[in-house]
Amino acid sequence: MLELGVNREVKIMCGIVGYVGNKSAVDILLEGLTNLEYRGYDSAGIAVNPEGVVKLYKAEGKLQNLKDIVEKNYGEISKSTIGIGHIRWATHGAPTVANAHPHTCNCGKVAIVHNGIIENFKELREKLEKQGCTFRSQTDTETVAHLVATKFAQTKDLTEAVRLATKEIEGAYALCVIHQDVKNTIVATRRNAPLLVGLGENEYYIASDVPAIIQHTKKAMYIDDNQIVTVTPNSIRLIDEENNLIQGKIETLPWEPVALSKMGYKHFMLKEIHEQPDVVRNVLSGKLRAIDEPITLNEVTLDKETLKNLNRIQIVACGTSLHAAMVGKYIIEDFCGISVDVEPSSEYIYRKTITDKNTLVIGVSQSGETADTITAVRQAKAKGSHILIVTNRPDSTMAREANSLVPVYAGIEVSVAATKSYMAQLISFYLLAIYIAETKGVSKDELSDLKRELIVLPQKIEKILAHKEDIQKCARAFSSSKDFIFIARGVNFATALEGALKLKEISYINATGYTAGELKHGPIAMLDETMPVLSILMKGKVYDKILSNSEEARARNARMIALTDSDDVKLNELFECIIRIPEISEILSPALAVVPLQLLAYYIAEFLGKDVDQPRNLAKSVTVE
Ligand code: G6P
Repeated sequence: MLELGVNREVKIMCGIVGYVGNKSAVDILLEGLTNLEYRGYDSAGIAVNPEGVVKLYKAEGKLQNLKDIVEKNYGEISKSTIGIGHIRWATHGAPTVANAHPHTCNCGKVAIVHNGIIENFKELREKLEKQGCTFRSQTDTETVAHLVATKFAQTKDLTEAVRLATKEIEGAYALCVIHQDVKNTIVATRRNAPLLVGLGENEYYIASDVPAIIQHTKKAMYIDDNQIVTVTPNSIRLIDEENNLIQGKIETLPWEPVALSKMGYKHFMLKEIHEQPDVVRNVLSGKLRAIDEPITLNEVTLDKETLKNLNRIQIVACGTSLHAAMVGKYIIEDFCGISVDVEPSSEYIYRKTITDKNTLVIGVSQSGETADTITAVRQAKAKGSHILIVTNRPDSTMAREANSLVPVYAGIEVSVAATKSYMAQLISFYLLAIYIAETKGVSKDELSDLKRELIVLPQKIEKILAHKEDIQKCARAFSSSKDFIFIARGVNFATALEGALKLKEISYINATGYTAGELKHGPIAMLDETMPVLSILMKGKVYDKILSNSEEARARNARMIALTDSDDVKLNELFECIIRIPEISEILSPALAVVPLQLLAYYIAEFLGKDVDQPRNLAKSVTVE
C-alpha cells in the first residue's frame, strides 16, 4: 500500500461530461469523452442510472476498452437518460480501474467525477475513515464522494450536500455528481477548473470543455468559481457558495462541430498544419485592414500613457507557447524598443521577480488553462501589473484574468502537438508589436513593410504545403536517427527549439535546438556521421554566420540538412538535404520556417508508426502545477 501523500492522485487535463434529458445518456457520454480524448488520458469511466440504481463502468487504457464493456451491457445501460463520464490522466498513482472515475461512497448511491486536485484530501480521508467510510481507491476524488454522501445523509438535498462538501475541500476542482435517490438530477460545481453547461430541448449537458458537447448544442452557460449548478431535464438552477440564486449568462459557443473531424486527413496534426494559411487570414482579419491604417486590437486597453510608463514587459508561457513568446520578445524589442523578458511560467512563479505596476505581463497559452501560467499571471496581477493574455480560448480561466486580451482564433486544436495555435500566436505577436509601436507613436517604414508581408504570408505557407516532397524525402532519410540537432540564430532560435520540440513530442527522437554560435561551446563534441544537424538558414543579418557554423558542423562529419529561403547553389555541396521555402524577410521568417519543421516531425513520426495525435505521456493542456 502506497503512502497517501506519495500516492496523491494528480489529474491533469482529465475530461468531464454529463447528460440529463430525454435521450439515452450512454452514447452522448461516450461521444463526449471521445471528443475530449485528444487531451490525453489513461483510463475512463461512466456512471448511469438505468433502473433506479446507480451503476459504474470503468476501464484502464484507451476509451475503446470502456466502449467494449459498455457494448456487452448495452441493453441495460442504454435505458438510462442520465449519466456522468470521465477520462483520467494520471501523473501519480496507477491508472487502474480502481482509481478511474466515477467514484462512489459506501452505499454506492453517489457517483462523482472530478478534474483537479483536492489538496486536503489526506486529512479529509482520515476523518471520513474514522466515521466509517471505506475507501476503494487511492484517489483524492473518492474523499469527495464520501463527503457528499455524509452531507446528503444530513440534508437529504444533493445541491446542499455538494455545497457543504465544497466548503470543506481545498484545491482545484470541477465536479459532477449524481445520487440514486435524487432522480434525474446532476449537480456540478467548480473552483479553478473549467466547467460549462450545454442547453438543449428538455436536456442539459455538463462538460469540462466545449468539444464534449458541441455536436449537440451551441447554447451554453459557463460556471464561475464556487458556483453550483443543478440541472434536471427541464430546469437549471445556479447558486453561489452562500446559496444565493444567480442568473447565469447563456452564450452561443463560437465553435463548429466540423472542427472535430479530420476532413480526410490521416491525422488531426496534418489537418491542423494545413489549416495554417486560413488561420493567418483569420488572425489578420479585422485587425490589419490596410497598410496605412493602424492595427486594431479591440480588447487591448493599453493606451499611450500606460505604454509611456512601462519599464519592461515580461512574457510567461509553457511549451510551444513559450517559443511563440520568444519570437514575441524579439519583435517587440525590435519594433517598440521596450525591454522584454521571456520565462517559463513554472520558473517565474518560484522566484522574486521585478514585477510592478509599470510592468506589462503577457501570458501566452493555447488552452488558457495551463496552471503554471495562470499562477504566474495571478502573481503579476497581485503586484499591479497590466495583464495581457494571448490565447486560443477567450472563454478560459486565464482570459478571465486579463486586462487586455488577444484572442488568436485558431479554432479547436485537437492534436496534442501544437501547430496552428503556434502560428496564430506568432501572428498575434506581430500584430501586437505593430500595435504597441503605433500606439507609442513610433513611425517606421518597417511597420508598413511587415504589414505588407503579413498579408501575403498565407500564400507562401500554401506554397510549402503544396510541395512537401523534399520534406517527405528528408523525413524518410533521417527517420532512423536517434538524435537531432537544430541550429539557428536570432529570431529563429525559437524556431529551432520549436522544430526540436515537435520532433521530440511525436517521434520520441532526442532533439535539441541550439543557437548556432553556441555549437562550438560544447554540443560540437557530439557530432559525427550519425548526427543530423538541421540549420535554419534564412536570409538576413545572421545568414553568413549560420552558414559558417554549418561548415564547422560539416567538418565534424555531421549529416547536414538546410532549411532555407536562399537559392544559393553553393549550399548543395554542404548539405545532404535542402528544404527550400519562399523568400521572406528575416523578421517574419519564423512564421514560415516553422511549417516545414512541423511537417518533418509529422512525417518522421508517421514513418515510425507513432501515435501522432496522442503521443505517449503528453497532455494537451496541463491544468495542475
Ligand atoms: C502542454 C502541451 C504543449 C503546450 C503546453 C502549453 O505541455 O502538450 O503542446 O505547448 O502544454 O499549453 P498552453 O495551452 O498553455 O499553450
